[in-house]
Amino acid sequence: MSTTVITGIGELVTNDPARADQGGLLGLVHDAAVVVEGSRIAWVGPAAEAPAADVHVDAGGRAVIPGFVDSHSHLVFAGDRSGEFEARMTGEPYSAGGIRTTVAATRAASDEQLTSHVARLVAEMRAQGTTTVEIKSGYGLSVHDEARSLAVARQFTDETTFLGAHVVPSGTTPEDYVDLVTGHMLAAAAPHARWIDVFCEDGAFDVDQARAILAAGSDSGLRGRLHANQLTYGGGVRLACELGLVAVDHCTFLSDLDVESLSDSGTIATLLPGVEFSTRQPYPDARRLVDAGVRVALASDCNPGSCFTSSMALCIALAVREMRMSPAEALHAATATGAAALGRDDVGVLAPGKAADLVLLDAPSHVHLAYRPGVPLVAGVWQAGRPVV
Ligand code: NIG
Ligand code: FE
Repeated sequence: MSTTVITGIGELVTNDPARADQGGLLGLVHDAAVVVEGSRIAWVGPAAEAPAADVHVDAGGRAVIPGFVDSHSHLVFAGDRSGEFEARMTGEPYSAGGIRTTVAATRAASDEQLTSHVARLVAEMRAQGTTTVEIKSGYGLSVHDEARSLAVARQFTDETTFLGAHVVPSGTTPEDYVDLVTGHMLAAAAPHARWIDVFCEDGAFDVDQARAILAAGSDSGLRGRLHANQLTYGGGVRLACELGLVAVDHCTFLSDLDVESLSDSGTIATLLPGVEFSTRQPYPDARRLVDAGVRVALASDCNPGSCFTSSMALCIALAVREMRMSPAEALHAATATGAAALGRDDVGVLAPGKAADLVLLDAPSHVHLAYRPGVPLVAGVWQAGRPVV
């Protein structure tokens, strides 16, 4: 198997807990080298001790980080809602109802159109350093359109999530729709999905409906995750904790009890600050969560309604500037904890045996991700050991 050594790494972010003593949360190694063998990391350490390899790359003193793990996105859709965004920026509130506009456009699109649209967005993400992405359905909302949305998503990632319970589509009652989601739609979706998700919110699905949908998903072998407490206070976060879900996403409006449940259960709170940026809502209080011992992940939520960014670097900059995370906490949340939010321990960390998913930054340190907001800092990306950018 061919080997590559990357030397001259001014600052290497490993996220390796074994390096925490000297390297802190990010397991930093200075003047480092990494050896890649096939699709995996074979060796990490000081450049002066690096073994020889078939191919040599010089990072020129720049920083290398693990590829971003974006654990929450809605890439399978058609149509454009920039008009809705424009109206919001002149005072209209965000509401879950806008989802139905995208549903109509998605149903009208061909499989080929949906596939090429997802391919474009995944390439856009990769160019910005994202090497693992979760993709949800949720703009089909019929048996056929949910199943094909997931089949499209599966071409790009194993982390596919059935989100038939996004909103109740026009022309049906909530009762009938929950029956469909937990019945025929789930049966058609399950072969293409690893996860099941529910939008638990006013205007979408309540806690009892979410509980029933997650239980049906679990019976079909799908692991649960949840959109909760995005627009209002409510019981979604506590439901996620009670069920022991690996992650609950948004977490914008949290009571003290919610924070306590998160820290007791170990359920990861995935914060999506691009949403608050794009909807002019208050940001979730990441500092309160981290200080309470809650594990926090960051993800893009890339979708046509509440947040149409694919940039994890923007999410990091927002988390640092607006949510009082340190640059190290934010990067860790966008890589290692994002991986944990997908139940993965093979990505998000650079250590022997892990996936060779690396990003070379055109910067001397990871701090520049927040220090230079809006600047494209990704100089190179390796995914499963292959240079892709
Ligand atoms: O995560 N909250 C629910 N779903 C998406 C928004 C979907 C839309 O507005 O199209 C979200 O924010
Ligand atoms: Fe979402």
